[in-house]
Amino acid sequence: MNVLVTGGAGYLGSVLVPKLLMRGHRVRVVDIGYFGMGHLRTMRPGVDIIRADILDVLASQVALEELLRGIDVLVHLAAISNDPSAELNLQLTERVNFEATRDLAIACKARGIRFVFSSSCSVYGEVTGEAGEEDRVNPLTAYARSKAGSERFLLSLADENWRPAILRNGTLFGFSPRMRFDLVINSFSYCATLYNEVHVFGDGRQWRPFLHVADCARAFVYFVEHPAHKHLLCNVAHENFRVMDLIAIFQALNPSVKPVYVPVDDPDTRNYHVSVVRMQEEGIRPSVRVTPGAEEIIESIVTGRIVDPRAAYHRNTKWLKELTEIGHREQRSLAGTLDRIWLAEGARPLVTGRF
Ligand SMILES: NC(=O)c1ccc[n+]([C@@H]2O[C@H](COP(=O)([O-])OP(=O)(O)OC[C@H]3O[C@@H](n4cnc5c(N)ncnc54)[C@H](O)[C@@H]3O)[C@@H](O)[C@H]2O)c1
Repeated sequence: MNVLVTGGAGYLGSVLVPKLLMRGHRVRVVDIGYFGMGHLRTMRPGVDIIRADILDVLASQVALEELLRGIDVLVHLAAISNDPSAELNLQLTERVNFEATRDLAIACKARGIRFVFSSSCSVYGEVTGEAGEEDRVNPLTAYARSKAGSERFLLSLADENWRPAILRNGTLFGFSPRMRFDLVINSFSYCATLYNEVHVFGDGRQWRPFLHVADCARAFVYFVEHPAHKHLLCNVAHENFRVMDLIAIFQALNPSVKPVYVPVDDPDTRNYHVSVVRMQEEGIRPSVRVTPGAEEIIESIVTGRIVDPRAAYHRNTKWLKELTEIGHREQRSLAGTLDRIWLAEGARPLVTGRF
């Protein structure tokens, strides 16, 4: 199949793309390149890498036609992808996370292109008990609202001929060629390795569903390859933990680790653990638990596979703030400046021709 992955140079996309290639699919990536794209260049048998802002593509009928030409399935990952970075520029978050999803979905439906969307379990907000897909969502942040709004729109567009797949991912962890250290298990792995500490923000009692990034990528591959999937909306998670429960896991890996509780002004009231019955009905079985996932990250730091774990570009909010200097200018205005860097890394701007 010909698969277009928006945001394919990101943390999840960089693990998903090789899995798609491995299974014989042809892959085109479109990404603005906030976190670099060079790591896709060496992938074999080759990825069609396009450096473009999806908003600019959607604003041009010609660019949109070219981007979607020949595509069978679109996997939509591009987003301002966590709570604090979504707060940096609320208008941009709404445009990238909601409006681009809406407009891509309309374009895909009109062309018979299937649509697989990366949503988040954070749409549940604060719940008691296990959250299932039929439960009312309670998005507490701009990021979660953008995902919940996108879901609603996709479901309103669905019919018997066009059945989007909406994956509500848990919090991811594990190694990716584009590493993120702002995700809780990855951040614990970083601090445990470099400082013999793990930093718990607030009291650590909040529940989260966790999922290894490779398991998440495999779930996306499943939905790419199964047009007759049973469910339109599906939680994708593996193990539910309270953040404080992770401390013992890290102490088992490194007995010197001490927890450091960091008081927060604005406590994170999000608290959810989720049911995975639907995911199991689809036949999806995550396999990588927290301990081996954390071990893999720690080894990647210790062996230098991750060369610069302290760098800001491993942390979305810090990096986007740095890119925008003070966070006031729109992140996308920097795309021009980034061009020079990313083009040197092998991404092509959107031009006519290839695939
Ligand atoms: N990582 C997680 O724990 C997690 C959990 C639940 C859901 N998700 C969702 O999964 C998706 C991927 O997350 P990730 O962790 O890989 O995040 P990421 O930030 O690493 O990747 C997002 C990618 O989108 C690109 N992008 C942003 N704005 C763009 C634009 N205007 N045009 C084109 N590309 C643009 C970025 O350059 C980046 O490469 C996101 O939609 C995110 O909300 C992630």
